[in-house]
Amino acid sequence: VFAGIAQAPEDPILGVTVAFNKDPNPNKVNLGVGAYRTEEGKPLVLNVVRRAEQMLINDPTRYKEYLPITGLAEFNKLSAKLIFGADSPAILENRVATVQCLSGTGSLRVGGEFLARHYHEHTVYIPQPTWGNHPKVFTLAGLKDVRYYRYYDPATRGLDFKGLLEDLGSAPNGAIVLIHACAHNPTGVDPTLDQWEQIRQLMRSKSLLPFFDSAYQGFASGSLDKDAQSVRMFVADGGELLMAQSYAKNMGMYGERVGALSIVCRSADVASRVESQLKLVIRPMYSSPPLHGPSVVATILKDSEMFKEWTVELKAMADRIISMRQQLFDALKARGTPGDWSHIIKQIGMFTFTGLTSEQVAFMRQEYHIYMTSDGRISMAGLNAKNVPILADAIHAAVTQ
Ligand code: LMR
Repeated sequence: VFAGIAQAPEDPILGVTVAFNKDPNPNKVNLGVGAYRTEEGKPLVLNVVRRAEQMLINDPTRYKEYLPITGLAEFNKLSAKLIFGADSPAILENRVATVQCLSGTGSLRVGGEFLARHYHEHTVYIPQPTWGNHPKVFTLAGLKDVRYYRYYDPATRGLDFKGLLEDLGSAPNGAIVLIHACAHNPTGVDPTLDQWEQIRQLMRSKSLLPFFDSAYQGFASGSLDKDAQSVRMFVADGGELLMAQSYAKNMGMYGERVGALSIVCRSADVASRVESQLKLVIRPMYSSPPLHGPSVVATILKDSEMFKEWTVELKAMADRIISMRQQLFDALKARGTPGDWSHIIKQIGMFTFTGLTSEQVAFMRQEYHIYMTSDGRISMAGLNAKNVPILADAIHAAVTQ
């Protein structure tokens, strides 16, 4: 019965890793997927995570019972506090409904399905460009009308702020707007605080519903509070919003799939009804979420000393990425590579949107065994002192060929 089935294409991001793994060249470099690597090019499990895992393993009172549909209650509370701030009025007034989900993607999907069932407007605006999975997550969640708002200006390699305001200004009242909380993926371009404030005013004046995707809190600047500023501005005005939170990057919990969806409501009573409906979305999808990842995260977040250790390790990852930006920029300057490469040091977070064309990307894969997504995005976290010169040579060759 499946004989006629067509071969599906590889995922544009995860497929890069598939191609990389098949390449026998010993000098190959994977700058595709956004996953942190050490200076030695190795994946990293944070010390504090190892310590928390050890504590959990040694505790004989821990069982493998099912979690409730909404996940680990303690983890949910701590996650909301982390992103909104402990003194957030929404938290103090108990008007946040938080459910543990399968990392950022799962949180977006559950939030999308909730909106498709209970929200009157099914139009979602996402930035142009955005993470490739966003449009598919929303469409399959039942929000069929996905539209783009202008975000990135290729000419300046910065924010197209005018275009953004125009597009959101002409969106239908009440439309849902997907916002990257910080370290926009793939461009590494974020609005300034002044620009966030203008975006907030415009959105609230048209009752546009913010749906934040926060995958990089602490990973962009090294400060958890700084990277949550945009979100907190929208919470401070008392309005509603959705928040998809991931611990993949900032705690290195990638494969554990730990995340949370929070919906900020107008009152505690509404939040409790929203939570009851989220359970109806989750139960037929995967029943209840996994136990290990959120237990590790909660162990770290609730202990002030472990929390501190986490922030130090997190800042070290952020700082290493920032120093890679400088090294790559310097290496291109040293080679006299044509073009203005200052965007490499201006953009923030895990990625640089290089401006390389898909032909140049293909050339670099072919000739230098350097792997990146075809839109020219490179994961800065995959760079180190050893492979920066190889990348710089490859970019130089690609733009001068
Ligand atoms: C990325 O953009 O590389 C990451 O968010 C990983 C993913 O799932 O695509």
